[in-house]
Amino acid sequence: MRRDLGRVGAAYFDLYGTLLDLGPLDAACEAVAPGRGAEFARAWRAEQLRLTWLRTILGRWADFEVVTDAALRATAARFDIGGAEALDGAFDRLPVRAEAPPVIETLRAAGLRLGVLSNGSRVMLNRALGASGIGAVFNDILSVDAVRRYKPDPRAYEMAVRASNLPPSEIGFVTANDWDAAGAAAFGFRVAWLRGPGGPAAPEVGGTEVGGMSWADVAPFLGTGGGGSSREP
Ligand code: LAC
Repeated sequence: MRRDLGRVGAAYFDLYGTLLDLGPLDAACEAVAPGRGAEFARAWRAEQLRLTWLRTILGRWADFEVVTDAALRATAARFDIGGAEALDGAFDRLPVRAEAPPVIETLRAAGLRLGVLSNGSRVMLNRALGASGIGAVFNDILSVDAVRRYKPDPRAYEMAVRASNLPPSEIGFVTANDWDAAGAAAFGFRVAWLRGPGGPAAPEVGGTEVGGMSWADVAPFLGTGGGGSSREP
């Protein structure tokens, strides 16, 4: 059971792995790394994130498309496979998670400002959201291109404050990524961390704790009702 925290004024969503399902990457990677597709996809994603964090800490910006390509090449070299270019653009073709649209609709109907806040480049976000068909519902589509720093740098989360003109405590943030949940909570957002069953514990980085929940919990947690296992507001 969660405390009734009242209603937020806006909700921002992480994109890859949250609104969009990364599951199909496994099958796509299987075609280039037979028998090791899921392992390859995991390694690619881990390298992609590692490069974003290194580039942010080092102050050496390159957008997420560049980083994603570099991570793909590095992973292909590590796995000693050729033909990885078949995976170029794989992040542009990911499907929307089935659980997301009804929750987005509940939040929209409750009058919340809605946005995407993603490490993806502006071009990637346009492609991915265009292909998915859910782009039009969002008031703000925020790419870290604007601040040239990747989440969880606070300046990335700050974009939502500027766009919504709300304080962090009145902004809900929905993500399936544990590191993103930790970063957004440290920034002061009300964080709905979509933690799958048996998922990892929250990273121990100090600061605000985040609790895991399911999609059904998101709307009540943000104070807009909508069912779920949490107490109704
Ligand atoms: C995003 C990725 C990193 O920011 O999940 O959308």
